[in-house]
Amino acid sequence: MNYTISDLPDYFKQYKKSIKNPKKFWDKIADENFIWYQRWTKVVDFDMEEANIKWFKNAKLNITKNCLDRHLAERAEKTAIIWEPNNPDENARHISYRELYEETNKMANVLAELGVSKGDRVCIYLPMIPELAISMLACAKMGAVHSVIFAGFSATAVESRVNDCGAKIIITSDGSFRGNKSVDLKGIIDEAVEKCPTVKNVLVVKRTGSEVVMKPERDLWLSDLTEKASANFITKIMDAEDPLFILYTSGSTGKPKGMLHTCAGYMVYTAYTFKNVFNYKENDIYWCTADIGWITGHSYILYGPLLNGATTVIFEGIPTYPEPDRFWEVIEKHKVTQFYTAPTAIRSLAKESHEWVEKHDLSSLRVIGSVGEPINDEAWHWYNDNVGHKKCPIVDTWWQTETGGIMISPIPFVTPTKPTYATLPLPGIQPVLMDENRIEIMGNQVDGNLCIRFPWPGIARTIWGDHQRYKETYFTTFPGKYFTGDGALRDEVGYYRITGRVDDIIIVSGHNLGTAPIEDSINLHPAVAESAIVGYPHDIKGNALYGFVILKETGEERNKENLRKEINQLITETIGPIAKLDKIQFVSGLPKTRSGKIMRRILRKIAEGDFSNFGDTSTLLNPEIVDEIKDERL
Ligand code: WTA
Repeated sequence: MNYTISDLPDYFKQYKKSIKNPKKFWDKIADENFIWYQRWTKVVDFDMEEANIKWFKNAKLNITKNCLDRHLAERAEKTAIIWEPNNPDENARHISYRELYEETNKMANVLAELGVSKGDRVCIYLPMIPELAISMLACAKMGAVHSVIFAGFSATAVESRVNDCGAKIIITSDGSFRGNKSVDLKGIIDEAVEKCPTVKNVLVVKRTGSEVVMKPERDLWLSDLTEKASANFITKIMDAEDPLFILYTSGSTGKPKGMLHTCAGYMVYTAYTFKNVFNYKENDIYWCTADIGWITGHSYILYGPLLNGATTVIFEGIPTYPEPDRFWEVIEKHKVTQFYTAPTAIRSLAKESHEWVEKHDLSSLRVIGSVGEPINDEAWHWYNDNVGHKKCPIVDTWWQTETGGIMISPIPFVTPTKPTYATLPLPGIQPVLMDENRIEIMGNQVDGNLCIRFPWPGIARTIWGDHQRYKETYFTTFPGKYFTGDGALRDEVGYYRITGRVDDIIIVSGHNLGTAPIEDSINLHPAVAESAIVGYPHDIKGNALYGFVILKETGEERNKENLRKEINQLITETIGPIAKLDKIQFVSGLPKTRSGKIMRRILRKIAEGDFSNFGDTSTLLNPEIVDEIKDERL
């Protein structure tokens, strides 16, 4: 593929070109590197105020033709997926491009037999097994819209996502292996589907072999169907702007947002960014440790690598099973060349004895990456010294579910890295910093709200079923610009450092959590009158959750420890264990403004243990509550 950046002057040259004439820039990349059934009539058409964005208008394509079919001529026997199971005693599987192509066709035939057709939604709730990738590709091949739901979400969370997108089919498994535990995924689906009227069938992959109840007619074993299915399938011709997938992400208020990505722009953008950010070369073995249930897995385990004909590792397990050297063992075993993980994983593994990492030969590595949250200085250096051995550039990649692909990142061997800095925007990306008054902050050594000026091909096109919310969330705070929800600073040479969320989203272990949905679930507890959640710094997780809870006046004494457990249990049931609170403090009131808004700024400071300056508390309705909360801080 013909679109690399060779050195720093070349980066600046390409960057300038991409900004001066984005249409020409993307036109050339799209034209030279993909198979199209029909070319576009216009590269981009957009109205940022109305949040209407279209790329490669009227082009016809199918992303799987580019992920699979096109590689059959030269790479049919090349390994597309190395599947590394949870238990290292089970053999890894090497799936060639030919096999992946055939398995995808079979799966597409199964879905078609069940009445799935173009535009229908299919939810996928699977562990990190090959069937997850195959299901997604099969949907894409037949024009169905996949919506992968992270297999750590609770039944209630699954239900709301399935109902929001109106899925016809759910693909799940009898269970999943996570370290020495197994999780009953089918049971969670059974509970969810009771309240999902649109679901006709549940396809079940056999993974753990545990007993499951199969509901007649509704539930089907996948292998029974794929065994009989043909390995040929006629690819659906898709329009550039036809939906490819929906992926839910937390909002600061209300229900999760179903971010919709479409076929052509997402394809062009993930392929281009994968190639450049990971310095991908033909014989590389690339490994991203994310779960496919998140955007990082969609773009950089599945689509980006396959579009480039790469070998991508899919790892089913966890970093600490059977021992805390599993990552390093897998790198050594498969001779991984690019390793892409999250700061939270780096921090937790850095806490383990050095021997775990030292005993493995990591010399195959060429590029190492980080994603999902700001990487702190200490973690950056540990990663650089012990994993990259100071030879592998760290690509600190900033991006979002909404952006589809990486936006700000060093280009390895091109951009000099700087600890904690995502450095420079990729070609085609125009970051701007905005102040409170919606004025652009010019110059360097400044900080502000991070926005993007011009659309790029990978941007999500809407929130499924709620374009108004899409427009309001991303395009109205700073009219005409895409607002990321992040704060950033620009240093003296123009490098960007992401400072964190400026809205009510808290990133815990790399997972985005909205405060409102968690508060809503706490408030379901009969003893709770009101609650407020804030994040506070945590050594490993980046942030942890601190809840301030007001109990209803009943006159009777409650057992606080039991209440804490019940509250966390409720959160686990309605959202998932990832949203559990680390600390719960019972308070008699919350600091509120006269208009009734909770002053989270103050709660954040208390949770952090920083009592130095609460700012102006004179506007509070109840300033006396601050001392009480402070004195009883956990
Ligand atoms: C944060 C993950 C600092 C950021 C791809 C963003 C980061 C949110 C970085 C999106 C990074 C992601 N440095 N912060 N390198 N990468 N973030 O949608 O706050 O799960 O807005 O997408 O993660 O999280 P999401």
